[in-house]
Amino acid sequence: MLEEKIFLKKDLDKNMKNYDFIGLKKSLEFTSEDIVKKITDSGLRGRGGAGFPTGKKWQFALSQESDVKFLICNADEGEPGTFKDRFLLENMPFKVLEGIIIAAYAVKANYGYIYIRGEYSKAIDIFERTIKDAYHMGLLGKNILGSNFDFELKLIKGAGAYVCGDETSLINSIEGKRGFSRIKPPYPVQRGLFDMPTIVNNVETLATVAEIMKYDENIYATLGTEKSRGTKLVSISGDVKLPDVYEIEFGSGTLSDIVKLAGGERGELSFVVPGGLATSILKNDELDVLYTYEDLEEAGSSVGSGGMIVVSKDHDLVDILLNVSDFFVKETCGTCFPCREGNRNIKEILLKLKRKGFKEEYKKTIGELREAILLAARCGFGQSSVNFIYSVLDKFFHEEVI
Ligand SMILES: Cc1cc2nc3c(=O)[nH]c(=O)nc-3n(C[C@H](O)[C@H](O)[C@H](O)COP(=O)(O)O)c2cc1C
Ligand code: SF4
Repeated sequence: MLEEKIFLKKDLDKNMKNYDFIGLKKSLEFTSEDIVKKITDSGLRGRGGAGFPTGKKWQFALSQESDVKFLICNADEGEPGTFKDRFLLENMPFKVLEGIIIAAYAVKANYGYIYIRGEYSKAIDIFERTIKDAYHMGLLGKNILGSNFDFELKLIKGAGAYVCGDETSLINSIEGKRGFSRIKPPYPVQRGLFDMPTIVNNVETLATVAEIMKYDENIYATLGTEKSRGTKLVSISGDVKLPDVYEIEFGSGTLSDIVKLAGGERGELSFVVPGGLATSILKNDELDVLYTYEDLEEAGSSVGSGGMIVVSKDHDLVDILLNVSDFFVKETCGTCFPCREGNRNIKEILLKLKRKGFKEEYKKTIGELREAILLAARCGFGQSSVNFIYSVLDKFFHEEVI
């Protein structure tokens, strides 16, 4: 039976005075270069969805020559099915704050923002208080904890657009512009907020950094597998008996094991979405796959944001498809024609499917639209917008049996 591996989900104390900030205190005794090396050696990969190596991003950021650099903590968490960052913000705000300050020190950024999804009112209240207390305790502002490092942090509330979780849209949003994605390159690390080098990291990535600096990168590196080090917070929802946030050591169990850990399925299991609606589904007979970046990729899906949705046979598949399609139609920023119009066309095809029943040509056209969007999309929104829909059609819909 799979058990939770608790590395990150510690220190649930809501009183900041009881939190030791050891990771930060230790970090301030190292140089920025030392910390970047430690995070590189830990093997930590970004938990925002793409799994980019954190140490590599920081190395690139550190090498940017600039008097002004920004560090942004991405707490937009708009991916349907994902609520692990909310868990961290509400239950471990000090660890998130600690990770933000360590990251800023490591890349030599003196200004930072935490961009929290507007709907997370409780998390916003908690973090506003955390920032205020941190200034009083000398954890933010000038000469942090007696060091010669200065760092100012501000909280920004998002306004509910999914695309604003994309780092370049988020940067536009902080600048007061519409949340459109920017063309890359230049990458934010080169020219981001107000055209200055900007490092964007996910909440879970930064909280993990605090823990790695507290305990040692070598301890962290012993957890997980070669390519998927450490643990991952997985938020499980849908048709399971105990939906919640679970901490899973990479490679310690399969998707089936994780469903069991969450109390098992309610009803007869049909499929699982492993990492939020941007990822492809795996059917009930494909769940024997180990929970790692590499195994999920080989199985045709992805760890994504860690938002796992379990779906039983009690639902109408076409209704689910229409619901998901509606989400992508409403949330596209509309800049790229194929993403905007392609997603609309897909919804029309699905409406036809609902009215007239399935035809193989629907799947073919949606597959072609997916290719076109993949080729032309400026950001990850378009690139992943058809994964769920196409995988459901591919795995469940065949003309001869419908
Ligand atoms: C449409 C879209 C939505 C995204 N939403 C989030 C989000 O809510 N939180 C997040 O951390 N990253 C999100 N990302 C990924 C970010 O662009 C970025 O890669 C991430 O914040 C980097 O942090 P990491 O390196 O720590 O993973 C999103 C990307 C796209 C394309
Ligand atoms: S891919 Fe979609 S969401 Fe991303 S920039 Fe283009 S239109 Fe906007």
